[in-house]
Amino acid sequence: MARLTAGIAASHIPAIGAAVDNGKTAEPYWAPVFAGFDWTKAWLKAEKPDVVILVYNDHASAFSLEMIPTFAIGCADSFQPADEGWGPRPVPVVEGHADLAWHIAQSCILDEFDLTIVNKMDVDHGLTVPLTLMFGQPAAWPCKVIPLAVNVVQYPPPTGNRCWRLGEAIARAVESYPEDLNVQIWGTGGMSHQLQGPRAGLINKTFDNEFLDDLTADPERLRTMQHIEYLREAGSEGIELVMWLIMRGALGADIRELHRFYRVPASNTAVGHMVLEKTS
Ligand code: DHB
Ligand code: FE
Repeated sequence: MARLTAGIAASHIPAIGAAVDNGKTAEPYWAPVFAGFDWTKAWLKAEKPDVVILVYNDHASAFSLEMIPTFAIGCADSFQPADEGWGPRPVPVVEGHADLAWHIAQSCILDEFDLTIVNKMDVDHGLTVPLTLMFGQPAAWPCKVIPLAVNVVQYPPPTGNRCWRLGEAIARAVESYPEDLNVQIWGTGGMSHQLQGPRAGLINKTFDNEFLDDLTADPERLRTMQHIEYLREAGSEGIELVMWLIMRGALGADIRELHRFYRVPASNTAVGHMVLEKTS
């Protein structure tokens, strides 16, 4: 059977992608950011996940205000890189796992989570920057990726509790897939940041570190946190953090923190990163 073995949380700052693509990772501004992912890169080489369910948000690259799915699962064989701002990144095409993706869609929908099934979708920095942080610049990504896009751009995004429960449903889906696969789930985006308005540039280190602590110490607090608290404490784009709760809900009660990293600044965002192993 397929096994869900671990979860990773990571920010998706587009300037990180541009720093890698333009050979700037050794610059004093960027070197400490990338150093925070060295441990994970080595760990992933040993873990060799077959498939990553990559929970991320699209930034008007695949979707727009014309169509706003709350939860969309990519069921295609491959996904082309795209982006606003700097344009499509020079990164490998993202190979999907259509069979597992369709199985997750069926299992979740019959479990009363009505995912939107997407058979053609470009993927932007929300998905490709976490891949770059974890795998560097390979000629091809070393695993298959199932994109799970979450609307956190246009109000109303899903609640943290809904995200948590979707994670639980995804875990049930993975664990009922007959092939022997090592599957990870990544929750991306965050941490505190606000890109517009009078509070642009907001960073809240206390909120961010309490969020990192409570992924293991008090996940119930995070699960019930209201949107208004994310907005007030973590800024308008801090709401991206609800996506981490899909990852955390999928891992269940028995987990161990393997690695943690936090750094400010990186572009307009606080970089947060954590690796969690499922222990049962
Ligand atoms: C920045 C951060 C984001 O999450 C994003 O989607 C776009 C820009 C930034 O730090 O500038
Ligand atoms: Fe973003």
